[in-house]
Amino acid sequence: VPAKRVAGLPDVPSRALAGLGVELLPLRGAPVRPPCPEVMAAVARTAAAPRTPPPRGLLELRAAVAAALEPELGALVDPEREVVVTNGSMQAIAAAFLALLDPGDEVLLSAPSFFYHGLIELSGGVARYVAARAGEGYRPDWEALDAAVGPRTRVLVVTTPANPSGYVFTDADAEALVGLAARHDLAVLCDEAYDVLVYDGRRHLSPFREPELRRRGVLVRSFTKSYAMGPWRIGYAVATPSLSDAVARAAAWLTLEVNSVSQEAALAALGTPRDWLPELVARYQQNRDRVCEAVAALATIDCHVPQGAAFAWLDLRRLGITAERLVHEHGIPAVDGMHFSVPGFARVPFGGPPEAIEALCDRLAAAATARG
Ligand SMILES: Cc1ncc(COP(=O)(O)O)c(C=O)c1O
Repeated sequence: VPAKRVAGLPDVPSRALAGLGVELLPLRGAPVRPPCPEVMAAVARTAAAPRTPPPRGLLELRAAVAAALEPELGALVDPEREVVVTNGSMQAIAAAFLALLDPGDEVLLSAPSFFYHGLIELSGGVARYVAARAGEGYRPDWEALDAAVGPRTRVLVVTTPANPSGYVFTDADAEALVGLAARHDLAVLCDEAYDVLVYDGRRHLSPFREPELRRRGVLVRSFTKSYAMGPWRIGYAVATPSLSDAVARAAAWLTLEVNSVSQEAALAALGTPRDWLPELVARYQQNRDRVCEAVAALATIDCHVPQGAAFAWLDLRRLGITAERLVHEHGIPAVDGMHFSVPGFARVPFGGPPEAIEALCDRLAAAATARG
């Protein structure tokens, strides 16, 4: 009999869709590209002479990550003591919660929220949600978050660009975040997995540029979206030396280390110009515009125009159907809003070829007239 802490968890929603046996439109929430020759060469070299990497990750990779981050953060990052390479950013998040939470500690999140709850529960913590401001593109409600801090609140999670809402932090948000964290002495988990997918000429501005956050936070990034390398499963955490020690210890107890082939692939990708990125972002923006325009023409489904990430966040409350029906009756890879702590909504990815986007628009139109 499985333990209660696992028996009570749902399957990871995005992965559960693949196991349903339903033929779904080929839409994705993250880009995937074939490896470039530099990555292929690194993979072949490493596979021919594999070595066990250090628990925190190959120092060359940590150094390259630190060098890439420094201009963006306007601060030095110590690759030896402040960077931990992980098995996707998911493991960085898991290790951060394990490092930060004692049993019963509370984690504050802005809803809709990416599904951190499974990792919070596995770490013995309790997730507490505060509704974001829907009318402002789902900006976190800083006043309401402040009011929700209780005696057991230990960690605040922020995601920018946000999954599923696509909200992208401004300088004012970073300032509000700093004030809130400092006022209540909270640790901050800052998830920037979608850093490259921002639209309409916006720039991703990491809240980690704030020294106060670097003192009390864990920054999480990933090669999944930023380098279109999801299946390689490489992410990383950046934090102060003492917090990095705790994150690294938790990560090492989970997986000892991360396989060196993927680490070398990530290192090679970091060293290769991302000349493909502007076109990819432009394509995602076009897809977003097409899907939002199609939804705007429907009387029973609503959505806002996301500022970043790769999802349409559909309001199905007027239509009165669930994401499950979008999946089973229309083949749309929708995840129910309840997994993001907001029932009545559905998350639909808009990464994919034009034919799949057109099919999505047609199928949403068909679903919008569904009844019962
Ligand atoms: C906001 C966010 N953070 C973290 C992750 C985990 O990504 P990965 O483990 O592939 O780096 C995801 C995956 O979709 C995500 O959407």
